[in-house]
Amino acid sequence: MADRANIVTLPTLPATDRKDAWWAGPVVTFVVLSGFVVYATLRALMNEHYQLGELLSPLYSPNIAEWTPLPGWLSPALLILWAPAGFRLTCYYYRKAYYRSFVGHPRACGVSERPHRGYRGETAFPLILQNLHRYLLYFALLVLVFLWHDVWKALWPEGRFGITLGTLVLALNAGLLTLYTFSCHSLRHLVGGKIDCFSCSAMNRTRHTAWKGLTKLNEQHMFWAWTSLFAVMAADAYVWMVASGTIPNLRIV
Ligand code: FES
Repeated sequence: MADRANIVTLPTLPATDRKDAWWAGPVVTFVVLSGFVVYATLRALMNEHYQLGELLSPLYSPNIAEWTPLPGWLSPALLILWAPAGFRLTCYYYRKAYYRSFVGHPRACGVSERPHRGYRGETAFPLILQNLHRYLLYFALLVLVFLWHDVWKALWPEGRFGITLGTLVLALNAGLLTLYTFSCHSLRHLVGGKIDCFSCSAMNRTRHTAWKGLTKLNEQHMFWAWTSLFAVMAADAYVWMVASGTIPNLRIV
């Protein structure tokens, strides 16, 4: 008679009637998001090649080391990245993406769940911290101000007006991050929420107009989430290459 202790139970596949590759999206999300987290962490810890003249990497913006003396071992990126990282981590779209791709809970629409006990979603610790998103929004808006200021500074290479490839890279990054932030569900609610009558005052009509504009952006929130993520990585990589002397900062105008 077989010893029950030696019986190995193979994991069962999730039950579903879906015939499509429902697992492909979560797998791609897992690979890309993991890659970005590893890249951004290594770059933040690197603490060099993040600035050259008027060019500043978005991972190090604002550059706190310019305002206050920091010990040489402390990367200024570590002091500011909590805001944009926290904003993305708690983003409603990213929650859906990484709940599915990192913990498979839920796995996908129409696919069976793993058994779970005592699950209280975002009403209990630690997921209740996701509600910080609406407050992290204010910090994300502040970061945008600094990023656009970096674009302005990049318009003055070597002290006179000009446009370099670095200017365009930083502008593209700031533009996509602006679209990502302005398509945020929390911002949309902040602008148009808690109003009973949109037409009852000039202020409410203005808010309604703004809300409709943000709603248009919000419909593409996933697109802005991914494109802005790639833009941050590309902008940092470009500044890294220029600051380390690997490539020159091509002057266009
Ligand atoms: Fe995605 Fe706010 S919901 S940034």
